[in-house]
Amino acid sequence: MAAERASRGPVGIVGGGSIGVAFAIVFSRAGFVTRIQDPDPGRRAAIPDEIARRLADLASFDLLDEPAALITSRVSVVETIAEAAADAVLVQECAPEQLPLKRELFSTLDSVAPKTAIIASASSALPASSFAAELSGRARCLVAHPGNPPYLIPVIEIVPAPFTAPDVANACVALFTDAGLVPVRVNAEVEGFVFNRLQGAVLREAYCLVRDGVASVEDIDRVMRDGLGLRWSVIGPFETSDLNTRGGIAAHAKKMGPAYVRMGAERGQHDPWTENLVAEVTRQRREKLPLENWESRVAWRDRMLMRLVAERRRAASS
Ligand SMILES: NC(=O)c1ccc[n+]([C@@H]2O[C@H](COP(=O)([O-])OP(=O)(O)OC[C@H]3O[C@@H](n4cnc5c(N)ncnc54)[C@H](O)[C@@H]3O)[C@@H](O)[C@H]2O)c1
Repeated sequence: MAAERASRGPVGIVGGGSIGVAFAIVFSRAGFVTRIQDPDPGRRAAIPDEIARRLADLASFDLLDEPAALITSRVSVVETIAEAAADAVLVQECAPEQLPLKRELFSTLDSVAPKTAIIASASSALPASSFAAELSGRARCLVAHPGNPPYLIPVIEIVPAPFTAPDVANACVALFTDAGLVPVRVNAEVEGFVFNRLQGAVLREAYCLVRDGVASVEDIDRVMRDGLGLRWSVIGPFETSDLNTRGGIAAHAKKMGPAYVRMGAERGQHDPWTENLVAEVTRQRREKLPLENWESRVAWRDRMLMRLVAERRRAASS
């Protein structure tokens, strides 16, 4: 079943707004026949031009492997959900973030989509449990939450509900990989999933810093743009800590842990990095990077930053 789903069969997109149109680009660029539906005639009329404009932009940065016209030839704009879902291997729901609407759409999709189709929602915060739990086909329902726009931000969070069949979640990961995205499995339906929880942690602190007069909005954005964000576009926060301290993340936690705990406590957060937790994080990092390779990974990080900095210089002077 998984292999069949991972083929480049038709993908249906329900909701042709920002995310729906961006997904149409993702799937058609990867060779999938793509049908995008929207109930609003104005949206349906606008979609072909929007796709063409964005593909032209992507082509100008050499980010397409095929002519834009071939990619757009795979996309059709349709009026009804049944047309979008016909023969689909995946239906990606991209309608507004409203619970009653998602409930209604999933109920319709469960009755019109082929029994083998995966039904995924782009939902930013609502878990599949909140809108698909009552459906007879709930085992094929889950959330596939993209970054915006997904044709540039490749990570996509695959969030199964407790009732989602494991082979459906696996097939969904395979299909999005096939579509050129980078799926990450989220093991629990926590609010905000992983992407927005991380984003939220930074944003909450940024608001506090502005409130307390510690720094201006622009200066906080600058610290991210010319500091943390630059590094985080190459490596994540765990790898950053691992590479910033000789001895790796265990040494980092020992040295910096107490200060971070104090900063959290100042904000009313009491989630200490216990010995067991640090041991687990260390275990996962050492599995990924044995300490004997630490120096060469640091050198790799620096070379990646050099590339980025050189590109930023070029962009600033052009
Ligand atoms: N915009 C983002 O940054 C972002 C990122 C990740 C996920 N999401 C999620 O993706 C989903 C779509 O967000 P968006 O930003 O594209 O919204 P949007 O408002 O740009 O687009 C929603 C589209 O859905 C259409 N629509 C309305 N009712 C519909 C119905 N009954 N059936 C089908 N289509 C219908 C609208 O006409 C509109 O074109 C939301 O769940 C949102 O939370 C958004």
